[in-house]
Amino acid sequence: MKLHINDTELEAEPAPGQCTRTFLREHGHLEVRKGCDAGDCGACTVLLDDRPVHSCLIPAQRLDGARVTTVAGLAGPDGELHPVQQAFVEKFGYQCGFCTAGQIVTASALTADDLDDLPRRMKGNLCRCTGYRSIREAIETGVRRGCAVDGPRAAEGTVGCSARPPAAERIVTSTEPFTFDVDLTGALHLRVLGSPHAHARIRSIDATAARAAPGVALVLTHHDVPDLRYSTARHEHRTDDPDDTRMLDDVVRHVGQRVAAVVAETPAQAEAACALIAVDYEVLPAVLDPEAARLPGAPLVHPDRTPADRVDESSRNVVLALHGGHGGDVDAALAGSVHTVTGTWRTSRVSHAQLECHGAIGSLDDDGRLVVRAGTQVPFLTRAELARVLGLDPDRVRVHTARVGGGFGGKQEMFAEDLVGLAVLRTGRTVVHEFTRTEEFTRTALRHPMRVAVTLGADDDGRLTAMKLDVLSDTGAYGNHSRGVLFHAVAESVSVYNCPVKHLDAEVVYTNNVPSGAFRGYGLGQVMFAVESAMDELAIVAGLDPFDLRRRNMVRAGDPLHVAHHGDPEHDLHWTSYGMDQCLDLVQDALADGSGDPVPEGPTWRVGEGTALGMMTTMAPFGHAATTTVTLLPGGRYRLGAGTVEFGNGTTTTHRQVVATVLGTTADRVDAHHGDTDACGYDTGAFASAGTTVAGKALHAAATALRARILAVTGGGELHADGVTTPDGEWSLDEVLAAASSPGGLSATGEEPGTARAITANCHGVRVAVDTATGEVRVLRSVQAVDAGTVLNPEQLRGQVEGGAAMGLGSALYEEVYVGESGEILNSVFRTYRVPQMADVPVTEVRYARTHDALGTYGAKSMSEAPYNPVAPAVANAIRRALGVRPYHQPFSRDRVWRLAAGGTAS
Ligand code: FES
Repeated sequence: MKLHINDTELEAEPAPGQCTRTFLREHGHLEVRKGCDAGDCGACTVLLDDRPVHSCLIPAQRLDGARVTTVAGLAGPDGELHPVQQAFVEKFGYQCGFCTAGQIVTASALTADDLDDLPRRMKGNLCRCTGYRSIREAIETGVRRGCAVDGPRAAEGTVGCSARPPAAERIVTSTEPFTFDVDLTGALHLRVLGSPHAHARIRSIDATAARAAPGVALVLTHHDVPDLRYSTARHEHRTDDPDDTRMLDDVVRHVGQRVAAVVAETPAQAEAACALIAVDYEVLPAVLDPEAARLPGAPLVHPDRTPADRVDESSRNVVLALHGGHGGDVDAALAGSVHTVTGTWRTSRVSHAQLECHGAIGSLDDDGRLVVRAGTQVPFLTRAELARVLGLDPDRVRVHTARVGGGFGGKQEMFAEDLVGLAVLRTGRTVVHEFTRTEEFTRTALRHPMRVAVTLGADDDGRLTAMKLDVLSDTGAYGNHSRGVLFHAVAESVSVYNCPVKHLDAEVVYTNNVPSGAFRGYGLGQVMFAVESAMDELAIVAGLDPFDLRRRNMVRAGDPLHVAHHGDPEHDLHWTSYGMDQCLDLVQDALADGSGDPVPEGPTWRVGEGTALGMMTTMAPFGHAATTTVTLLPGGRYRLGAGTVEFGNGTTTTHRQVVATVLGTTADRVDAHHGDTDACGYDTGAFASAGTTVAGKALHAAATALRARILAVTGGGELHADGVTTPDGEWSLDEVLAAASSPGGLSATGEEPGTARAITANCHGVRVAVDTATGEVRVLRSVQAVDAGTVLNPEQLRGQVEGGAAMGLGSALYEEVYVGESGEILNSVFRTYRVPQMADVPVTEVRYARTHDALGTYGAKSMSEAPYNPVAPAVANAIRRALGVRPYHQPFSRDRVWRLAAGGTAS
C-alpha cells in the first residue's frame, strides 16, 4: 500500500485489523495521540484527504492512495506555524497540551463561515483542562488569520506578566513528548487480566497455556510477585495510607482488579495470552453499599488489616473514623436555635478523564539500574515505594516524567509502575504498560462518592449557633487516599464558618466497588456541596440574602480555624492574607449587573441564581518539601531544576518567571528541568496545588542564593540579563563564570520544607434557567472570584479557574460513573461517560481579589484545585431558587431535575 503522510510518500503494509492511529505511530508519527481509541475524544485527529477524522476509527488498510496530514504537516514551507497553531500559542489554548494536536488539526479545516457553529464543529475534540474559552478564542483568531494578541505578553516574562509557557511552540506542533512519545521498537508490552467478580478468592490459577503462547516473555500471577502490602496512593509520609494492596493478590475485591499480567512482544499477543489463563474463583459475598458495609454481618473486604496497617476497624469495614467537635452539646444547641435546616446530600463517582491514560515504560540502564518513565505527578514518591516493593535500594531506581497529559490527582498513585518494574527485572528488557480508556474507569481510581448529612442552627439574625455533620465516604476496594480525603473533606468545609458549637461524625469505609482516590479538591467539593446547600437553605428560612448570610458567618482573618485534622489542627495554618470578603463582593456585583445569556423563552423555563463559598489551604498538611537548583550556564542562560511535574498546572511557566525575576533576566533565558529523580532535587510532587507555594519558594531561595554568589564574584553591582553593572564597569556572565573558576556553570540550591500553610478563598456564582418540561439546566451566567494572592501569571491563572469551573459544571450536571448490581462499571467509555464538550461549557468570568500573602512566592497562593469545589453547590442553589425545591443528589442530570420539577424525588 502507498500513501502520503505530510507530503512524504510511504510504502508499507498495516497489520491485519490495525487502525490508522497505531499505524501512523509505528511509522514515527508520535504526534498522533491516544486518548480513547474509540472515536470519542479527538486526540488522534488527522486530516484524511483534507477531511478531519479520528484516526483510531479508520482501518489503516483504507489508506492506500490517501493523503494523511498530521499536526506536524500543517506548518508552512519555511517551517512557520499554521495560523491556528500560532493562535493557540498566543491565546494560551492549552494547559497539559495532550488534546491540542487534535484540536488544531480539526480547526485547520474550518472556514470563517464555520465559526458561527464552532461548538458543533468541535464536538469531536474533548479538552479536560481548559474549559474551552481559550481554545475557542484561538480557533476564532487562527481561522480568521488575525492572530491578534491582547493583554500583556511581556517578553521578559517576569512575575505578574502572562508569560508564555516554554513549551508553547512544541505543544502546538506536537513535538513536546508525553509519556509514550518515544521509540518503543523492541519493547515488550504488558497487559492485565482483570477480575470478573466483585469479591472472590482465587482457588487456583493455571498460566501454562499463556506462558506457551506465541510471543509471551513472562506471565505474573500472585505466586510470582512480592508478598508485601502497600498503597497505590503516594504521600510525603507513606504511613498516611493503609497498606492493603498486593501487586497481585489471591483475593480480588472489585470487578476489574488485576488477576494476572502477561508480557509479550506485541500488545495483541499479550491480550491473547491473557485469555488463556485459567482461574478457578471461589466467589465471595460482596458489599457495594457503603451504608450496608458498616452493618453487622456485612462481608468484610479486608478482615486481616489492623490499625497497624492504618485500618481503624476492619470488622466494620471502616478505614478511618473521625468523631468530635467543640462547644458542647450540639443537639441542645440545635434545639435552642431560632432557625434550623437539615438535609442529606449525595455525590456520584466521577472520573478524572485526563486525556493521557495512565502508564509507564521501564528499562535497565547501562549500570543495571531500573529506569521508569511514568505518567505520574509524584516521581520521587513513586521511586521510594517502587524500591521498597521491589526490594531495591532507592539509588538503584530512577523515575522520570515527560510532560504529563493531565492528572487532576489521578496520577498521585502508582497504578502501573510496580508491575512494569517487576517485569523489567524479570525479563531484562524494556516493558511498556499503557492503560486503555476502559481501564481508566475500571482499574485506576474515581472521586469518592459521599453521603453528607448537615444540620445547621442559627439565631434570629442568621448567625450560626450549631453545625452538625455526618459524613460517609466510599473508598471502594482499597484505601488509597481514603484517610487523607476524609480529613480534608471535613476540614475547610467546616472551618469556613464561625459557629460556637460544631460536631462531626465521619467515616470512610471499604466496599467492593472500584477504588476511589485523590481527585481535584480532595474531598472538599463533596462536603462543600452539602454545607453550602444547607447555608443557602438557611438563608431562605431566615429570610436573608445568601451573600449577607455568609458574610455574617464566615471566618475573618485571625479567627480560630477548627479544622478536623488529626494531631494539632492549627499548628501550621496561618492568616497571612485574607480575601474571602472580596470574593463574595466580586461575585455579588457580577451577578447584580444582570448580564449573561438571555433567558430562554417559553412557559416552562424557570430562572434562579445561586452562589457558594469555598476555602482551601495552600498545600497538604504534614509537609510538602522541595529542594531545587538554579544554575548559571555559559552564554548567559540559566537552568532551573525542580522535582515537581508539569501536567497542565503551569509550574514550568511560573517557575521560570520566578527565577527570571530574581536574576534580572528574561524567562526565555531560563531552561526548566522538572520531574526526574536523577536530575532534580527532592520534591514531594505535583499535588495539593503546591507547585507555586512550595517548589516556587524553593526556586526563589535558590535563585536568590545564586544571585548572591554572582554578586560576590563581582563585588556587588546590579545583576541584569547580560551581566553585572558595577561602579568599576561591566561584567559579562561568562566573565563571572570564569572568575568563579566555574566555566561549566555556577549553581545554588534552595529548600522549602513546606510546613506553613495559608488560606485561599473562592466564590462561585451562577444564573441558570431550568426547563421544567425536560429537566434541562442551562447556565446563563457563570462567574468565579478567587483569592490567589499576587497573580503571577494572569492568563495562566484564568485558565486554571476556567478549567476547574468547567470540570465542576460537568460534575454538577451530568458526570457519573454508573455501577451495576454486580459491581461492574456500566459506562467505561467517553461515549457513555459524558465529559463536557465545547458546546456544554459557558464562559466563566474570572475575577481576582487583591491580596498579598506573606508566606507565598511574591505573595502568591495556590489556585489549581479550589476553583472546582464551589461550582456544584452554586448550581444546586440556583436550581433551588428556580424551582422552589432543592436537589440533593449530584449530578443534577436531566432525569433528576425533571423529577424534581415534577414533584418527585431527585434521587
Ligand atoms: Fe486539553 Fe489538557 S489541554 S486535555
